[in-house]
Amino acid sequence: MRTCVLLAEYAADAPSVSIFDPASPAARSIVDLALLSLAVAALIFIIVEGVLLYSVSRFRRRHTPNSGEPPQVYGSMPIEVAWTAAPAIVVFFLILVMTRTLWEVKAAPVAGADLDQALEITVIGRQWWWELRYDRYQGQSLGFITAGELHMPASTDGQVRAVKLILESADVCHSFWAPRLAGKVDLIPGRTNELWLQTDEPGLYLGQCAEYCGTQHANMLLRVVVEPAAEFEQWIEKQKQPAAAPSGSDSSVFLGQTCVNCHRVRGTPAQGTYAPDLTHLMSRDTLASCIIDNNRENLERWVHDPNAIKPGCLMPAFGLDAAQEKAIVDYLLTLE
Ligand code: CUA
Repeated sequence: MRTCVLLAEYAADAPSVSIFDPASPAARSIVDLALLSLAVAALIFIIVEGVLLYSVSRFRRRHTPNSGEPPQVYGSMPIEVAWTAAPAIVVFFLILVMTRTLWEVKAAPVAGADLDQALEITVIGRQWWWELRYDRYQGQSLGFITAGELHMPASTDGQVRAVKLILESADVCHSFWAPRLAGKVDLIPGRTNELWLQTDEPGLYLGQCAEYCGTQHANMLLRVVVEPAAEFEQWIEKQKQPAAAPSGSDSSVFLGQTCVNCHRVRGTPAQGTYAPDLTHLMSRDTLASCIIDNNRENLERWVHDPNAIKPGCLMPAFGLDAAQEKAIVDYLLTLE
């Protein structure tokens, strides 16, 4: 009972991830198709079950003297034609609407948008987190990298602000899925896929990797933060800055450890590219691909032993002593 209450509370608080609650033109097209297909399937179900129930009732064995076998029908041209033609027509109809939806999903987010001004982000799927490389915005190159939480501007009445995602993978197949914003698109090693996002509803949208990619697939969560353009541009300005020089905390432990082989902190000697860019770590709300809140306590747990939080995680525990761990977390907390 308690669990049910907790689940209900959680569900009430958490942003919707239902495809039936679309927030973009593409997501709306997908819902329309889903509802139409469900309606067609429901109609067929009702007809088939109706005929079945009628036949069971009408032709059931009765407690009357045996009247012998009912008349046997061997082949009937009209019936054969009917049950061949009807499914063919239904399938053809569904193919037509599906093709239209595919077309809409590809085209709609872009309609009315100035594509030269679009925000371009290269999304790289990794075991098990999302690398987000901010390439261009309004024709200007950006050149910063973040992880897990994708920020984008909202469209307004006067202006469609399209976001082009260039989807790649560093290891295995993943799939980018923010259900209220768009359909799933796979990230495939050695291949580049594209996905356009666009919405005029600012807010937090949750997503998830939708292609099994290993142990932590289920914890490869995703957040899309849609902000009014002015707020988004402030965020960009901040992300473009190199890391603030540490004040009151010492970066030497972090920079002296193997952290720097994998992580990057722009403006310091830490230039690793294998693991999440930490330049503005504290501007993110979550850690470990959005599965835990980003705060001191969780950073301490993470630095102490990442595998205790995310079994299979590719960052090992380094066996540091308490003083070293504290120094590293103190430093990370300055990366705002
Ligand atoms: Cu990445 Cu599943």
